[in-house]
Amino acid sequence: MATVPTFDIQLTEADLRDQLRTDVLWGLTGSRKWLPPKWFYDARGSKLFNLITGLPEYYPSRTERALLRTAAEDIADLAYGATELVELGSGSSEKTRLLLNALSRRGSLCSYVPQDVSESALRSAIDWIGEEFPQLSIHGIVSDFTTMLPALPHGGRRLVALLGGTLGNLPPRERAAFLGELHRVLVPGEQVLFGIGLVTDPAVMIPAYADAAGVTAEFNRNVLRVLNDRLGADFDPFAFDHLAVWDRDLEWIEMRLVATEPMRVTIPELDLVVEFAAGEQMRTEISAKFRLPGFRAELAAAGFAMRQTWTDPAHRFALVLAER
Ligand code: AVJ
Repeated sequence: MATVPTFDIQLTEADLRDQLRTDVLWGLTGSRKWLPPKWFYDARGSKLFNLITGLPEYYPSRTERALLRTAAEDIADLAYGATELVELGSGSSEKTRLLLNALSRRGSLCSYVPQDVSESALRSAIDWIGEEFPQLSIHGIVSDFTTMLPALPHGGRRLVALLGGTLGNLPPRERAAFLGELHRVLVPGEQVLFGIGLVTDPAVMIPAYADAAGVTAEFNRNVLRVLNDRLGADFDPFAFDHLAVWDRDLEWIEMRLVATEPMRVTIPELDLVVEFAAGEQMRTEISAKFRLPGFRAELAAAGFAMRQTWTDPAHRFALVLAER
């Protein structure tokens, strides 16, 4: 029986504005400027990210898709009895089709709960999923998974998915807090499927974040456009260069925007003037890469047991099924 998808905005435009104001105030007034990656994803940024996932250099998406294709049946067997798939940071939900197919065939799955900060991405995902999986009840949630896990629906038996390497956007301390919170909201026996990037050759990782066509550069600069749109700032996105570096000690890719000339940017909504020196760098994203033993330890510290892992032959990406 087809049910109409429901849509739950737990994070309103007003909430987002408040958070953006706080983040920008914190990020742009210190001695080392930074902005959190969540602000990339307005409608334009979400579209640019979808373009990134199809780039030849951006191996994470196609590697994860291939892994999901081979592992979906196993995952569905291991998650047997799950009644609800909760996908955090679901974006376009494009790869989730593989999981939904395998899980629906087992017959226990009743509902799909995609969660994302991007309302536009979520709305288009819900449309096609509703048509393709009319037997599922679909409940989209606009929220921030780093702070709003307790507001997710409960009841039933959940399989939570956090794919695409999104976990790597959180620095270690926030990641530990997030995993702890996830453990707190789940009940024993519920499972989590992670898609994580693995530490591999920098000559492979760096181009994935600095593609030849410049799509990632445009994605990176989009955060400035978001600040212009939402806070009335007057950033000139073209006056910033895109930079992706591999931090070999912290084992993460860092995206930065580099001011190509001295600039004075005004942000009227915050009553703020921000100065950039020529060559000044501003961090816009970290994308941590993992080693499986280290990730097992992180999971264990939060109270999760690693049940099974799947990796590609080149060892660039992994799917990890963990149990609460
Ligand atoms: C969506 C956070 C997983 O870190 O690989 C892609 C975002 N940034 N290219 C990633 C991203 C630059 C992506 N995640």
